[in-house]
Amino acid sequence: MSKAIQEETVLSVRHWTDDLFSFSTTRDPAFRFLNGQFTMIGLTVDGKPLLRAYSMTSANYEEKLEFFSIKVQDGPLTSRLQHIEAGDKLLVSQKPTGTLIQDSLIPGRNLYLFSTGTGIAPFCSIIKDPEVYERFEHLVLVHGCRKVADLAYGKQVVEETRDNELIGDMVRPQLRYYPTTTREEFVHTGRITELVESGKLFADLEIPPMSAEDDRVMLCGSPLMLADCVEMLERRGFAEGSQSAPAQYVIEKAFVEK
Ligand code: A2P
Repeated sequence: MSKAIQEETVLSVRHWTDDLFSFSTTRDPAFRFLNGQFTMIGLTVDGKPLLRAYSMTSANYEEKLEFFSIKVQDGPLTSRLQHIEAGDKLLVSQKPTGTLIQDSLIPGRNLYLFSTGTGIAPFCSIIKDPEVYERFEHLVLVHGCRKVADLAYGKQVVEETRDNELIGDMVRPQLRYYPTTTREEFVHTGRITELVESGKLFADLEIPPMSAEDDRVMLCGSPLMLADCVEMLERRGFAEGSQSAPAQYVIEKAFVEK
């Protein structure tokens, strides 16, 4: 039987900006999770495990685990984690959990994945899930960041998923990707909430406006982003779903180390 906390080996690390990095590790084959879930990961500090919640960005059928993180210079974990290198050890709790679960949503037409910052992490896993493409006509992945460089990891995951030998044919026609910035010029600009309220998101993608009757939403971002998006959705008749009572949307806080 595997232990509650497994020690994995770091395979690769990539720094995207001064504040963002991603890394992959080995995976205990007994570690099972649903795409979109998170688990506790971390390092041994002063002889004790120091763990924080991280969404897997890898899909549950991949051999490796992958994660996407911010670097908080005085953060207890990320001030250390940002220095990891291939060959280092990473602690991974074997008990994944989370609310961004497809079974918590009733069937619908399009699935909107609204994220800001590192909140894109669970959606990197979900867009690689073949089942989600069977359940929904389109996946609309919106990623809002301050600057263009902050979008780079998500962009790469989307490109790799579209090029994937096994699921690419399914992904290319069904996955719509809408990156947007708020503090730098880019092809799309503005907050997710503004883009939905103005209808610009739907006009740009040439899709019908989102409706509680037809569409479903997953949200992952900062507490303020979640609060504003929830208010916007509830006003439009969307209700929050759970596994015991599926409905039109589900949310998860992006885990930011303070
Ligand atoms: P803005 O630049 O207008 O604050 P952060 O790095 O602060 O978490 O922000 C990541 C992205 O989320 C930024 O583009 C930011 O826009 C946006 N954002 C912040 N708060 C909200 C909110 N309440 N609703 C929607 N988007 C938000």
